[in-house]
Amino acid sequence: MSILKTNIAPTSECIDSRHRTAHRGNDMHPEALESMSSLRGDERGMGSMLSKASQVFILTDENVAPFWLPEVAYWLHCEAAVDIIIKAGEKHKNLQTVQRIWKTLMKHHADRNALIINLGGGTITDLGGFAASTYKRGIKFINVPTTLLAMVDAAIGGKTAIDFCGAKNQIGTFAEAEEVLVDPVFLTTLLRRDILSGLAEMLKYGFIADAQLLEADLENYQDFILRAGEIKREIVAKDPYESGLRKILNFGHTLGHSIESHSLTTDAPFLHGEAVALGMAAALWLSVKQCGLDETVLKDYEKRLPILLSEAELNLAENDIEPIMAYLVHDKKNKGEKPQFVLLEDIGRPVWDKEVPTGLVREALEYVITKVSMK
Ligand SMILES: NC(=O)c1ccc[n+]([C@@H]2O[C@H](COP(=O)([O-])OP(=O)(O)OC[C@H]3O[C@@H](n4cnc5c(N)ncnc54)[C@H](O)[C@@H]3O)[C@@H](O)[C@H]2O)c1
Ligand SMILES: [Zn+2]
Repeated sequence: MSILKTNIAPTSECIDSRHRTAHRGNDMHPEALESMSSLRGDERGMGSMLSKASQVFILTDENVAPFWLPEVAYWLHCEAAVDIIIKAGEKHKNLQTVQRIWKTLMKHHADRNALIINLGGGTITDLGGFAASTYKRGIKFINVPTTLLAMVDAAIGGKTAIDFCGAKNQIGTFAEAEEVLVDPVFLTTLLRRDILSGLAEMLKYGFIADAQLLEADLENYQDFILRAGEIKREIVAKDPYESGLRKILNFGHTLGHSIESHSLTTDAPFLHGEAVALGMAAALWLSVKQCGLDETVLKDYEKRLPILLSEAELNLAENDIEPIMAYLVHDKKNKGEKPQFVLLEDIGRPVWDKEVPTGLVREALEYVITKVSMK
């Protein structure tokens, strides 16, 4: 590995790595060191992977960097890697940010043996995976997820994406990370709202695959992280390119993505998991109507929704229905303009490619909006 002294000119999106030492430095608690041992190179063959790379870049965002960038660089023995620090949040998961990443790679003459470490939540793993998989037709990357959502979902499974023209995940690639290094210690600095967002994705696995995951809550979610990741890996291994089974991972996402895209046009957007929490409510409601799902499943979930949405700022109203419906047209699961849903016959028995009449989709949204307004 060639060691590069970073000197990226500070801009609004790219911050010089000198900033990193101003925060926690490397004086972590010993327990944290212990629990992060999975990030130590020798145990995962990481040392050899990193030393084979011609250059190492660490992509992260402005919120994660102060807490974790020095530690992770220290762990992976790449303190001298080039840091690329971008602004946080979904609204920066776009082509402009990708261009900045590509430009930084070019500026440092990164060749095809360069490697990117994506240190952050799903926004970073999606963006970094996309930038890596397209730069010089693809360079290697490692995901180090720092949010619950990324640990159980976004960092696993080889889908990368950016948002385009205001719609979610419109441009992307299938590209597997060389490694996904999961450690719950990162969650100690995460906001409760982001934990709740990840919890919603964990419940998704409960609905589609393993009822045990429906027991996950704010107190015990750490016990379910590995199982959730395992479920995702199993599903992806059976259908990596989403020709069938993998679609079940989109449970709650058909309307969820539309709700999320619409909310991004407001001043108080939903987090991905919050929108998915609402999308799952709609999918359960449709499952009762269309697939004979027992109504108690919906009623039980209704009781959980207020907690999942407790930190969301947006309240949907009747006049949000049409704009949300308009986003459905862009859903990647559509056949033509007809939205395809993943619905449940029972817990653990999902069905996919379900076409639902537009009128019923609108009714499902109305149901969701009354639930959200109940908060
Ligand atoms: N590729 C996939 O298969 C897949 C699956 C699910 C979701 N996603 C994508 O993931 C994204 C959502 O991911 P997310 O919820 O992780 O959001 P995120 O990456 O935006 O992170 C949420 C917030 O937490 C901050 N943060 C991250 N880690 C932190 C830490 N340890 N301590 C303090 N702050 C921290 C971030 O800066 C951000 O402000 C969406 O863009 C979604 O489309 C992708
Ligand atoms: Zn999701």
